[in-house]
Order: sequence, then C-alpha cells, then structure tokens
Amino acid sequence: MIEYRTALIDDKPLLIKMYLEEIEDNVERAARFADDLIEHTRTILSTDGEQICGTVSWETRGGLEDGIAEIVSLGVSEEYRRQGIATKLVEILTNQAIEYFSEHGHALRVIFLFMERTNETARNFYKGIGFSEGAEIAGFYPDDHAVIWIKHL
Ligand SMILES: CC(C)(COP(=O)(O)OP(=O)(O)OC[C@H]1O[C@@H](n2cnc3c(N)ncnc32)[C@H](O)[C@@H]1OP(=O)(O)O)[C@@H](O)C(=O)NCCC(=O)NCCS
Repeated sequence: MIEYRTALIDDKPLLIKMYLEEIEDNVERAARFADDLIEHTRTILSTDGEQICGTVSWETRGGLEDGIAEIVSLGVSEEYRRQGIATKLVEILTNQAIEYFSEHGHALRVIFLFMERTNETARNFYKGIGFSEGAEIAGFYPDDHAVIWIKHL
C-alpha cells in the first residue's frame, strides 16, 4: 500500500538506497542528496512498505509575509509512475505549506518551481495540476534553459 509522510532523519539510509538504485551509483552524491532532503528542505515521502517510491521537497522563499513556496525537487520511481503519486505528493505539500504559513500569521500565495525547458513529462504534469508556464531563463542549467512554473493559491 502506498503511504505518505514527512521525511525524518532515520530515513537517510532509505533515501541513499533509492538514489543509488534510481538515479546513479555514486555513494557520495547519494549521501548529499539524502542530507539535502532531510536537513535543508522540507520533504514528503511516498513509501511502499520499506521502499521509498517518491519524494517532493519544498522551501519558503523570501520573508514569510511574501507568501511564496518553492518546490525544490519532485521525483517518482519509474515503476510507480502514472499512478497519481506525484499528484498526491504536491497536494500534501500544498496543504502542509498552507498550514505552515498560517501558523506563522501569513497566507501562502504562490507556489513556483524551476524546470528544464525540455522536460515534457514535467510540463504535462504541472500543467495538469493547475500550474502555468512563466518566464524562461536562458542558460540556467548546465545543459538546458529553465522555465518557471507558477500556481497562485
Ligand atoms: C514528473 C513525475 C514526477 C510525475 O510523477 P507521476 O507520479 O507519474 O505523476 P502522476 O501519476 O501524478 O501524473 C498525473 C498526470 O500528469 C501527466 N503525466 C505524468 N507523467 C506523464 C508522462 N510521462 N507523459 C504525459 N503526461 C504525463 C498526466 O496528465 C497524468 O495523468 P494521467 O496518468 O491520468 O494521464 C515523474 O514522471 C518523474 O519523477 N519524472 C522524473 C523527474 C522529474 O522530471 N521531476 C520533475 C522535475 S521539475
């Protein structure tokens, strides 16, 4: 059964395992990936038993009074795609961010993210859940331009 929860420090070994299996066989970068998701951003996991099958991480941007959250990363393991997992992860993130801003006396106004211009899958995904394509930033990534995607709450 697929479940969803906030990532905790104890999830580091599972995140490292997922990175090594899904992304690349590089232990150093896998450890950095796990550190980033647990220590530097707020991360929500989807799990299937002991296995992590998806992650989304987010951060506030600027002062809380601006009401802006950025989706820093989103990924679902290949064998689990097209089952609604990313949709659910972004829905949970949105509710978590709304609650976070509200607890601090502010309202979440905007969620945005940077995407590689050529990532057609991500484009279809974000368009389908109500995000709009914004400005293009030339040369943002080493091998691609970036596009900002944004959703007003
Ligand atoms: C993009 C990604 C997170 C989507 O995850 P997912 O769990 O498969 O997404 P969902 O099942 O919630 O998809 C919801 C809708 O998005 C669209 N979509 C998702 N993947 C798609 C694809 N490969 N082609 C076309 N549309 C797609 C569809 O409209 C889909 O609805 P449907 O399955 O009923 O047709 C996943 O493909 C992934 O991890 N890709 C690699 C990493 C990445 O690109 N991350 C985003 C960086 S900005």
